[in-house]
Amino acid sequence: MKKGKKLYEGKAKIIYATTDKNLVIQYFKDDATAFNNQKKSIIEGKGVLNNRISEYILSNLSQIGIKNHLIKRLNMREQVIKLVEIIPIEFIVRNVATGSITKRLGIEDGTVLKEPLIEYCLKNDALGDPLISEEHIYAFEWANKNEIEKVKKMILRINDFMIGMFRGIGIKLIDFKLEFGRVKNNGKNEIILADEISPDTCRLWDSLTDKKLDKDRFRKDLGDLIPAYTEVAKRLGILHEQSNVTAVNVTKLSSVKKKSK
Ligand code: TMP
Ligand code: ASP
Repeated sequence: MKKGKKLYEGKAKIIYATTDKNLVIQYFKDDATAFNNQKKSIIEGKGVLNNRISEYILSNLSQIGIKNHLIKRLNMREQVIKLVEIIPIEFIVRNVATGSITKRLGIEDGTVLKEPLIEYCLKNDALGDPLISEEHIYAFEWANKNEIEKVKKMILRINDFMIGMFRGIGIKLIDFKLEFGRVKNNGKNEIILADEISPDTCRLWDSLTDKKLDKDRFRKDLGDLIPAYTEVAKRLGILHEQSNVTAVNVTKLSSVKKKSK
């Protein structure tokens, strides 16, 4: 299987064709964006960490029966994944209220939710990924009821699994974003988990100190993003072969970024 032409470039990843029409290569960039691309930076080493962390989480989810697009990690920045038709919805899952929901609804930051809350946003950068209701999804046929019911069941299992996985390493899973895609399996349409799950797409707080170990370090100018992502990877036990590269980045970046919680 050979790498072919660039098919798509997003804010944090690039998708390349391969000689197998059902598979593509997903390349993790170092670009960081927030607030719908209004804030941008390049954070050396971020793509390497997200590639490893996402591989770890998706392969563990696969083991508990959550089908997803990951075939295998190729190298420090690339994975082979299944080509899917992405459902144009960002599924946001919240266990604790923080971020946009606190501003939108005037909810106190850090409010623990009794049940996980699922929100839907239309995947459309030009419109700023607006919040939509389930009715909008059916009215404009972005997905059908059967698909959304399946996605919701998968989301709750993913949330349960990830809460437990992170709790075991002293991290609270506050919220996260998921994407799903359609693939053909023996002629039948199937919904699988797609995209990435990483500190770019989750809010992760240290269980004891509430220190932010996710992209809020960039969004809120807290600095030390690479040390925080490295901490997540280390606690997950997945920083072996490229620990040298990460160590170099940590030294380089911590000398230029200000220290903060
Ligand atoms: P929010 O509080 O900004 O709506 O974000 C909720 C969660 O979704 C948070 O973990 C960050 C993640 N997220 C993304 O991964 N991509 C996005 O484009 C947005 C808006 C949020
Ligand atoms: N990913 C979005 C952006 O690039 C928003 C975010 O993650 O905060 O702007």
